[in-house]
Parts: sequence; C-alpha cells; structure tokens
Amino acid sequence: MSVFTEKHILLGVTGSIAGYKAADLASKLAQSGSQVDVILTGAGEKFVTPLTFQSVTGRRAYIDSDLWGNEAHVLHVSFGKSADLLVIAPCTAHTLAKLAHGLADNLLTVTALAAECPLVIAPAMDGGMFYHPTTQENVAKLKAGGAIIVGPGEGHLASGLTGKGRMIEPAEIMGHIRIILGRNGKLAGKKVVVTAGGTQESIDPVRVISNHSSGKQGYALAQAALDSGAEVCLITAPTALPPPVGARVINVNSVQNMLDAVMGETADVLIMAAAGADFRPTHIVKDKIKKRDGIPQIELEAAPDILKTVAGSNSEKKHFKVVVGFAAENRDLLENAFEKLTSKKLDLIAANDISAKDAGFAVDNNRVTLLFASGTTETLPLLSKMEVAEKIIEHTSRLLE
Ligand code: CTP
Repeated sequence: MSVFTEKHILLGVTGSIAGYKAADLASKLAQSGSQVDVILTGAGEKFVTPLTFQSVTGRRAYIDSDLWGNEAHVLHVSFGKSADLLVIAPCTAHTLAKLAHGLADNLLTVTALAAECPLVIAPAMDGGMFYHPTTQENVAKLKAGGAIIVGPGEGHLASGLTGKGRMIEPAEIMGHIRIILGRNGKLAGKKVVVTAGGTQESIDPVRVISNHSSGKQGYALAQAALDSGAEVCLITAPTALPPPVGARVINVNSVQNMLDAVMGETADVLIMAAAGADFRPTHIVKDKIKKRDGIPQIELEAAPDILKTVAGSNSEKKHFKVVVGFAAENRDLLENAFEKLTSKKLDLIAANDISAKDAGFAVDNNRVTLLFASGTTETLPLLSKMEVAEKIIEHTSRLLE
C-alpha cells in the first residue's frame, strides 16, 4: 500500500499557462492510486479544458457552474469534509490573494474555505508579481495559517522573462504531497539513514573503479521512509536520480567518504543499500595516467566495510537501533546472505539474486528474500523497487517497536 492509496485529493487549477502541467500532476496522482477531483476556475478553463482532466483522472472535472447546479452548496462542503488534501497548482497571484483574505467567489475558493484538510499551494505568476509586497504579505499570511507553499521555481517565464515565478514541476509537487500525506505514518518522529548508489574509487584525477548499482533501490527506500513520516538522511554515491523531496542529502564518492558520513549520523535506523567498493586502488595517481606510458598496473587494497565498522561501534545500539543490509549474490543466495546477516550484526538483510534478468541491478524490479536476526525468512515475489522498499520499511518499523 502506498501513501496515495485510498486518498481523496482535490486539485484546484487556476488561470496560468502552467495549467498544462497540472494535467500531468492530475495524471500522476491518479496513477498513484488516489481519487482525484479537479476543480477549475473560469480562467483555469481557458488554458486547459475539463475534458483533459477527466481523461487523466477518469472522473468528472468540476467548474464554476457546478456551484449553482443541483448539488449546490453541498458540493463544496462535501469536498471540504472528505478530502485528505487540497492542492492548488498552478495558483495565480489573484487566487492567492483571495485565499489569504477568505474570499469565496467561485467553486475553488469556496471549497478552500470549507476544507478541513491540509492546503498545498504551488504559485505560478510572471515577472515581479511574486515579489510584490502584497503577494509576499499574502504568502506570509497563508503560511501562518498553516498552508504549505511550494515554489515558485526559477527559470524561463511565459512572458519571455527569466526569474522566480514558475510553478515547480509536477514530480516535485508530488514529493511535497507525499510528505504531507505520510507525516503521521509509522515512522513519524523517527530518523532513518539510507545509503545508495555505487561508490567510486579514484584511480587518477579522471578515472574511477565503480559498479553497476543505479541507486534505485536506495532512493526508493528513502522515499518509502519519508512516506512513513520519517526524517530521512540519504547518503548517496553519484547516481542519475533526483533525490526524494524532503530528504537531507549527503553526496559522497568513495566508500571512505560514505563511511565517514554514516559514522557522522545517529539515527533509529540505518539501511545500507549502497554498493560500497570492496577493493580500491592502494594509491591515487596524482596526474592523469597517459596512454603513452603503457598499460598501468593498478594495485588494490581492501576498502573499509561500512557495516562491519558500524557493528564494531554499535554494540549497545546507541548509534543505530535497527540496522538493515542487502546481499547481492549470484549464487548460494541464502547461505551467503545468512553469513552477512550474522557477521555484520544486522537485524534484517534483503538478499537479492543479481543473476536474474528481470530483477536486481539497474532495472525497476527486485526479487528479494528477507532474513531476520530472529531466524525467520520471508520470500517476496517479483515487485517494483518501490514495493520492495515499502515492505522493508514496514518490517523496519515493526523491528523498532
Ligand atoms: N557494504 C558495506 N561496506 C562495503 C561493501 C558493502 O557496508 N564496503 C554493505 C552493503 O551496503 C550491503 C552489505 O554490506 O548492505 C553486503 O554487501 P555485498 O556487496 O552483498 O557483500 P560484501 O559484504 O561486499 O561481500 P561480497 O562482495 O564478498 O559478497
């Protein structure tokens, strides 16, 4: 079950060209499993039609005339009572001003006034409008009243100007929504450290030794922990992935940097999903190695094992209460995973068979078996990395109890 499952989300769309991005947001929300009801203002309708939203949500989109229809008065009150969240994206300076002053002259603003749920506002406006003292005052007033203002972002504006005023991207708005929907989850008040990606061990200033880890499973774990209300620190080796909204990110390169970053944190949970190097060059060559000098001999030494180092300093569980590891194996999966579970003093290890074509490194799915220090095991079917992450987070919160 994801943080979006069985949630009722109202999406207000006001008159901005960023309305086309709101269609993407509506689609993402609906695909995530939420019930999405869209309310367009009159100006919003001029940019994108209700049909666009109906097509992506599979539900009727509402417009101002619905306020005066058969369902009159009941509609906004029932929306206001049933919704888990109202997000207004894009929100113009005008709607922002109306919300700040409690004006209710259309279906969206009347719903906002009747709503008992959290309000997320993604402003979109041009030029200096966002910085106008009146807009700033309105933003401050809405924030003081509990509204969550996300953005605006900086960049190209519809007027051709460049500056602050763009609605932030739908994926980022989704990240903010997840935090609000998950804030009372099972890990609320807990701190989780997740490591991700494949470390890079320098040979010379331009070359590294690394591995095939994409970081996907680690990033999914960080997201799942955020979805459960945890405070998350993501310690990541270089990846191509955008970090989850709300995570505190520490970027590292080598396994030594990762070890230092991990040892610098104290948390309820440590999840080591990173593929740390086991070997590294004994010396980093100062200048770029030139081809003309022939084929280099690269001497390797053992790299520090982060989990073993943690185990050595965590005997009283003062550093981390629950420690979770992964075992990437292409043979003798369970035997090898069990050996790592005990030698690294883990509470839980997720063993994955990296020889499988449909799961493991770089792809979106994973097939793992969970081995617990208590001796029990649980084999999960082929799942998306996000679903695997949700299962691991579920077990982790139980282990913390
Ligand atoms: N790990 C670690 N420090 C390293 C390498 C790995 O803490 N230098 C962690 C990984 O994040 C993972 C667990 O140890 O949670 C097991 O990693 P894996 O690569 O499967 O095994 P290794 O211990 O490196 O042993 P081997 O490569 O021989 O299988």
